[in-house]
Amino acid sequence: MHWPNDRRVGPGRRSTDRANPLGATQDVLHDLGHELATLALLTAAVAADPGLSAPTSTRVELIQAQVARLVDLVHGTPVTAPVDVRAVLDQVVAVAAAAGAPVELAPGEPVTSTLDPGVLWRVVSNLVANAVRAGGAVLVEITGTDPLVVEVVDTGPGFGAGPPGRSGRGLGIVDGLVRSVGGITRITPELPAGTRIRVAFGVVEPTEGTPEAT
Ligand SMILES: Nc1ncnc2c1ncn2[C@@H]1O[C@H](COP(=O)(O)OP(=O)(O)O)[C@@H](O)[C@H]1O
Ligand SMILES: [Mg+2]
Repeated sequence: MHWPNDRRVGPGRRSTDRANPLGATQDVLHDLGHELATLALLTAAVAADPGLSAPTSTRVELIQAQVARLVDLVHGTPVTAPVDVRAVLDQVVAVAAAAGAPVELAPGEPVTSTLDPGVLWRVVSNLVANAVRAGGAVLVEITGTDPLVVEVVDTGPGFGAGPPGRSGRGLGIVDGLVRSVGGITRITPELPAGTRIRVAFGVVEPTEGTPEAT
């Protein structure tokens, strides 16, 4: 993937990562797994409280769903059934919206996919987080099903024009995950202002007049 104002390269960017003072990645993942298991238990205990108000109960359910995704991510839980795409996107959007961001999922038919739900979740979470940080309203759309195509559109200031992220890793992670399933990521300006990021989770057969670009 190629995008303007790439902050991953250039004078202000470290060429190599600093060693993590907490230890090797596998060790950190091991400890994260333990702590997430504790969080899952604690959250389940809160969720079982019959005195919770409806909005609090909804938030606790969101936290539980997020913790479950993180546990799957840390343990690399194998995928056994087709993923309910809309449910995954709903979760990403609901979490961002509960945190106060103006994010919506465009309505549509149910969609299932054989894609690893963890890949879908990480890709869309990264894109939504970027779009929210950029500012404006954010819309997540499913625009194709074979292969699955998801677009994240924002009405922010345009790619690279908003506040920068902390690490500059997110889009590289997105690109790596999308490529790992044979897909492609495309970034285009949205008029009159904003950014549209389109992710095809697989090979899209080219049709006349719609060239694919990275
Ligand atoms: N939707 C967007 N609107 C404007 N700029 C964006 C958007 N998405 C990404 N960017 C730009 O790309 C940079 C890199 O994003 P990313 O790789 O996700 O870094 P980080 O992991 O720090 O968020 C951001 O700092 C920002 O300048
Ligand atoms: Mg990011």
